[in-house]
Amino acid sequence: MGKDGSPKQYYQFDPKRNRLSWILGVSGLCILSYIMGAWKNTPAPNQSEVYTKVDCKPPSDMASSAIQSGFALDFQSHHQIDLNNSEGVQEFQPCDLKFSEYTPCQDPVRGRKFDRNMLKYRERHCPSKEEQLYCLIPAPPNYKAPFKWPQSRDYAWYDNIPHKELSIEKAIQNWIQVEGDRFRFPGGGTMFPRGADAYIDDINELIPLTNAMSFAPRDTHEAQVQFALERGVPAMIGIMASQRIPYPARAFDMAHCSRCLIPWHKFDGMYLIEVDRVLRPGGYWILSGPPIRWKKYWRGWERTQEDLKQEQDAIEDVATRICWKKVVEKDDLSIWQKPKNHMECIQNRQTFKTPHICQSDNPDMAWYQNMEKCITPLPEVTSADSVAGGALEKWPKRAFAVPPRISSGSIPSIDVEKFQKDNEIWRERIAYYKHLIPLAQGRYRNIIDMNSYLGGFAAALTKFPVWVMNVVPPNSDHDTLGAIYERGFIGTYHDWCEAFSTYPRTYDLIHASNVFSIYQDRCNVTHILLEMDRILRPEGTVIFRDTVELLVKVKSITDGMRWKSNIMDHESGPFNPEKILVAVKTYWTGEAKGDGLCSWTWIDHRDFISGNLDFGDKSIRTAHFGIARIEVQTKGIMTPETGSVSSHWLSHATPEPRLPNCRQSLGMIGRTFLFTTANAACTAVMF
Ligand SMILES: C[S@@+](CC[C@H](N)C(=O)[O-])C[C@H]1O[C@@H](n2cnc3c(N)ncnc32)[C@H](O)[C@@H]1O
Repeated sequence: MGKDGSPKQYYQFDPKRNRLSWILGVSGLCILSYIMGAWKNTPAPNQSEVYTKVDCKPPSDMASSAIQSGFALDFQSHHQIDLNNSEGVQEFQPCDLKFSEYTPCQDPVRGRKFDRNMLKYRERHCPSKEEQLYCLIPAPPNYKAPFKWPQSRDYAWYDNIPHKELSIEKAIQNWIQVEGDRFRFPGGGTMFPRGADAYIDDINELIPLTNAMSFAPRDTHEAQVQFALERGVPAMIGIMASQRIPYPARAFDMAHCSRCLIPWHKFDGMYLIEVDRVLRPGGYWILSGPPIRWKKYWRGWERTQEDLKQEQDAIEDVATRICWKKVVEKDDLSIWQKPKNHMECIQNRQTFKTPHICQSDNPDMAWYQNMEKCITPLPEVTSADSVAGGALEKWPKRAFAVPPRISSGSIPSIDVEKFQKDNEIWRERIAYYKHLIPLAQGRYRNIIDMNSYLGGFAAALTKFPVWVMNVVPPNSDHDTLGAIYERGFIGTYHDWCEAFSTYPRTYDLIHASNVFSIYQDRCNVTHILLEMDRILRPEGTVIFRDTVELLVKVKSITDGMRWKSNIMDHESGPFNPEKILVAVKTYWTGEAKGDGLCSWTWIDHRDFISGNLDFGDKSIRTAHFGIARIEVQTKGIMTPETGSVSSHWLSHATPEPRLPNCRQSLGMIGRTFLFTTANAACTAVMF
């Protein structure tokens, strides 16, 4: 402690210099520590060999082996976050087995409370915060990994979707057959008992086809969207009721309805007007089933010729008023085309007073937005043969061509340069992902990108036999979904504070890039993760990209959800603050146990002729062509099951022949319906 030159004095006399050396010293140590950490994680020269070895492992093990392998990140040297802190991990319990097909926002039980007018009760009605489940949706007992694409096109395991209804109700249409422990899809459909391929060939002769996405409500055609997804075909739950379908304007090249019995001519043509909104300029609208070709089919449809003619005339009238041109009416198909631009249509408004062209509205807005009865205006053009909004390249060039919405500068702060940079980024990222997960081995077919921005992730995957559902948050200032459709990809608006419009276990791979940075202040991260667990198949993979802090939080939650995961470096190396968390959902199923008592109730009866839906209607005997749904309720711990049965089995005045296999399949004995639940048989006696 000498008076001269002692450290203490020095500090006292030159505090600025003192602080500077302190900062330099600490920074030096930090940098050293970071470099040491980076060195530990930098691929050694022979690292590519290691990658190759990982690639060669059996596909089902690869994602989890990447998780256990040296790809794991060693944070300890340069972060203050404890990755191995398992203290306080909350173990989530499985929900009751009755929730194995739970679709929170399309729950038929909740739906019943809502307005039946315009089928509003079948639209999205999500559970309130208090009603949300805080448990893991179980797979049914004996669930097996679905067949790989392309076998999945033709086969699915019965135990994965234990619904025989379609094989019975639609036996004549040859949709689906039960063969032992599996379903076989012979390729039939409503208007194409010769097979969808023949039907599609018929369409292809008339207009060129590329890619498709289907939607249907969770309705009496039990499990159809679930079947489509199980088969590896793009689909989601959705309905044309009172609100816009969740897609931007000018999205689809073609829209198709085969006997969907939507009242196209009613409500001032509102449903056709909505189809017009989502169709691209020059896009096609295809209708088959009633009333098309009524002269041939009217008897089978149990409708009068006058009635069917009137309906067809009304549809033709709306189509003309919204400026569509009839392209063809051939055999069972009618095809209309939307104009390439609205030049002529605007002039036509003098002839047709209604519908008007909408004045002020964002035509892309489609999240809980009511449908309108006015025509969505197309972007202006300068010549009569220009495509409004810009012509598109042909597929596959289209996937990487600059989308017209971007080249025209219509998406704020997104320009051509950003678009091209984004493609480059995703090309590199997919190359990196290939080392982390078995992307190239056919392990994944159904992929969802929770925050897809410009669709770069989907674009970089085009060489693989996969499809990607591109999700864009609704009502964003930088709405990119229209551009994604212009690239030829599919997607939907969705707010991840709510459940997605799909069945459980429908995706093989979930990509969650910066999802939590967007949603963490708006809703509960745990609920988003539980929803991801619901829609992910057992042994499915999730890739998260976010800050370390968020990923550590996510990992601590998913550790309690029976997921195995590991945090890894960004593809550009350890200095990037963004990290990657790769997780795999482990295989487990719900258990069916014990016996219980059962009782039954009618829950609804739909008469397709009038389109009426009567709650609690027991007058099923009077229906001609329809579906009665029966809910078998169980007491105790037995698994309840919902069944449906065509009412024409009860009707003597049936217009359709009796189906030969209904007895065995539903176990109908006289007036007694026999339902087999997962573990016990229930009988329900009617009338
Ligand atoms: C007879 S099926 C045809 C299915 C398939 N396209 C085929 O041809 O085999 C009719 C489809 O229309 C759907 N549908 C009925 N009303 C609908 C509505 N309002 N909005 C959307 N889909 C509807 C049904 O759920 C069903 O999937």
